[in-house]
Amino acid sequence: MLNIWDANWGLELGLCPCDQHFVEFLEERKISNSVIYHFGSGGHHLVGVQCMKAGKGNVVMSITAAPQEHKEYEKLIIAEPKLAHHYICYFSDIYTFEGRLMPMFDIVTLFHLGEFRTEANDAYGAHSEWEVTRRFCAQTRTGGLVCFYNGSNGWGETVPLIERAVKEGLLEADGVYKTLPIYRRTAKPA
Ligand SMILES: C[S@@+](CC[C@H](N)C(=O)[O-])C[C@H]1O[C@@H](n2cnc3c(N)ncnc32)[C@H](O)[C@@H]1O
Repeated sequence: MLNIWDANWGLELGLCPCDQHFVEFLEERKISNSVIYHFGSGGHHLVGVQCMKAGKGNVVMSITAAPQEHKEYEKLIIAEPKLAHHYICYFSDIYTFEGRLMPMFDIVTLFHLGEFRTEANDAYGAHSEWEVTRRFCAQTRTGGLVCFYNGSNGWGETVPLIERAVKEGLLEADGVYKTLPIYRRTAKPA
């Protein structure tokens, strides 16, 4: 059975401000016309909805492992079909990520690495935390950004993944915006 996340996460800025910080980051850096992959839509779908509202031409693909959150997405685009031009949320387990099914991304968020993978994922040969990190580096264009969240429950497990990606020459540090350490993709094949 797929290791689903059986919840519907509302916007909890006190607990988990990463999505809000990411939206502010896009605005502050004046990022436009970018293709964004977002790990963990939440039931609020803030990143997709705000990218549409900002009108800067950014488009978002997000993933949720919660059927309830995907239902929220369905409700959103049924009520406001315009959103579907800017934002796709799909339901799956990120630990099954297959880049050949995806476009190249300008920006990737890996905010929840290290939080949700368990032995239940092993039962269907899901990728390791490192393999997902590597695959998303491969799926980010040279000069694109890979963003992390240092307030995550999985941050302890994420740090060595970032260190390895830097050591292997896949990522270079590009500063920290609020709670979000930002890394830039190098040209080295992942
Ligand atoms: C705590 S919520 C955070 C949502 C949002 N990023 C925020 O900060 O408000 C965790 C998110 O990760 C998603 N998630 C959990 N396990 C996942 C998995 N294996 N693959 C993809 N998404 C997953 C959940 O569906 C949920 O959207």
